[in-house]
Amino acid sequence: MEKLSPLEEFNRPKKNAQPCVMVIFGATGDLNARKLMPALYNLEQDGELPVHFACVGFARRPKTNEQFRTEMFEKVKEFSRTKPINEQVWDQFSNQLFYHQSEFHEDEGYERLKKLLHDLDAKFDTQGNRVYYLSTQPSYFSIIIQKLSEHGLISPYHENADQHFTRVIIEKPFGHDLASAEALQEDVTKYLDENQIYRIDHYLGKETVQNLMTLRFSNPIFESLWNNHHIDQVQISVSEEQGIGTRGAFWEEAGMLRDIVQNHMMQLLSIVAMEPPNSLDANAIRNEKVKVMQSVRPLPKTHLDKSVVRGQYDTGFIEGFEVPAYRSEPNVSPTSNVETYVAMELHIDNWRWAGVPFYLRAGKRLPKRITEIAIVFKQVPNYLFSNNNEFPNTLVIRIQPNEGISLKMNCKVPGMTHLQPVKMDFRYGSYFGGTPPEAYERLICDCLSGDNTLFARYDELLASWKLLTPVLKHWEENPPEAFPNYHSGTWGPKAADAILHREGRKWRLL
Ligand code: BG6
Repeated sequence: MEKLSPLEEFNRPKKNAQPCVMVIFGATGDLNARKLMPALYNLEQDGELPVHFACVGFARRPKTNEQFRTEMFEKVKEFSRTKPINEQVWDQFSNQLFYHQSEFHEDEGYERLKKLLHDLDAKFDTQGNRVYYLSTQPSYFSIIIQKLSEHGLISPYHENADQHFTRVIIEKPFGHDLASAEALQEDVTKYLDENQIYRIDHYLGKETVQNLMTLRFSNPIFESLWNNHHIDQVQISVSEEQGIGTRGAFWEEAGMLRDIVQNHMMQLLSIVAMEPPNSLDANAIRNEKVKVMQSVRPLPKTHLDKSVVRGQYDTGFIEGFEVPAYRSEPNVSPTSNVETYVAMELHIDNWRWAGVPFYLRAGKRLPKRITEIAIVFKQVPNYLFSNNNEFPNTLVIRIQPNEGISLKMNCKVPGMTHLQPVKMDFRYGSYFGGTPPEAYERLICDCLSGDNTLFARYDELLASWKLLTPVLKHWEENPPEAFPNYHSGTWGPKAADAILHREGRKWRLL
């Protein structure tokens, strides 16, 4: 086989998944049904699961293996990336799927788990290797790891890949503020080496997010303009039509800043703004990302409300249907002050980005689902064309949907004297065809192969919590005056526009 370049090697899904038993804690939850089981089924279909593999769903509700398999089959039919389901593939996978009922703190449950894992090793030749996926409420993360350790279910970390391994995937959020993230880190590192911890942020598994590095570091025409000499501003938007649905209890404790901004958006920001790493090694990339996060200017304490705006959705219309206000959603307090929208202006105090504002916005119940990064370039001097200033060159990286990249530039309208912006548009779907693997497929596969490049390192999370915890504190001390403050189906509170207006800019129309 031809030798791959480091970039090709980095972009290649890792296909040397090692034999193991994967135990999913919180297996009756939403994430397992919508994302993890469909991802495992698709990996099985693509031949990317190891031959010697078994999966155990660990949860509190009583259930037989057969019940669990039947329920999971229904979910996979509903949520799988590829359809229709190939029943032969499912049968093959479900023979390796088991259910284990226990409380998360119950010693006896871990003793039974130990016996089950031992039996599965014998049956499937999984060689004592373990991947534990913590997809429970975050308050259980520490106790699960502690119990696993106390019952001898965690092997020490070895550099040597031949020794049997334990890897732990931890779902977000990792902590709910700086202090709790530090406490959680202290708890988990009592039992695990950093190399065994896979903190998942599924945005990092998205093809379009991985392509950001390829776009930046393999195209000199962009990279040479990627700085404050040429870029006027960067806008990162995560807009969702959906509300919080059945996740009221979770959302009441989380809110938009913790759910999306602290992790997904900060990851996008760091990849857009990072310096080129000196290799595509996991740590080289993460070193550069963390430098960006550490260079973000702390938000101004005295006039924080000018830089960070929060919102909460009211009733309104989405696709012609009336939808309830956040405060009327199930399991939400009728007087809740939890935010479903955040907009903010950030500055990165380094050589490359001094003076370039980064505007971030994320909201539920906005008019459409779209995640994009827009790089807005500076204008030429405005004396040759009358309307030149209206249409800055803009490079848009569409993370989803209609994954692709577009470049807006100015053109002379034929037969006229004025300019009009036109777009060069690349779409993954029409160019490459097919549907790219789901983020969870890529990330599970990478973990089974022992590659943690696309997982968040602790210092990245720490920097992000350091930046955002003062906002949470400020909000706690100063309840919002006028929640709800935007109607469902609109682009969020007016105050979010003001962040840009005062600097003569505006949000892009999505
Ligand atoms: C999750 C959040 O991490 O990401 C959800 O908890 C959000 O609230 C989801 O809807 C968005 O993911 P995606 O892949 O649909 O952009």
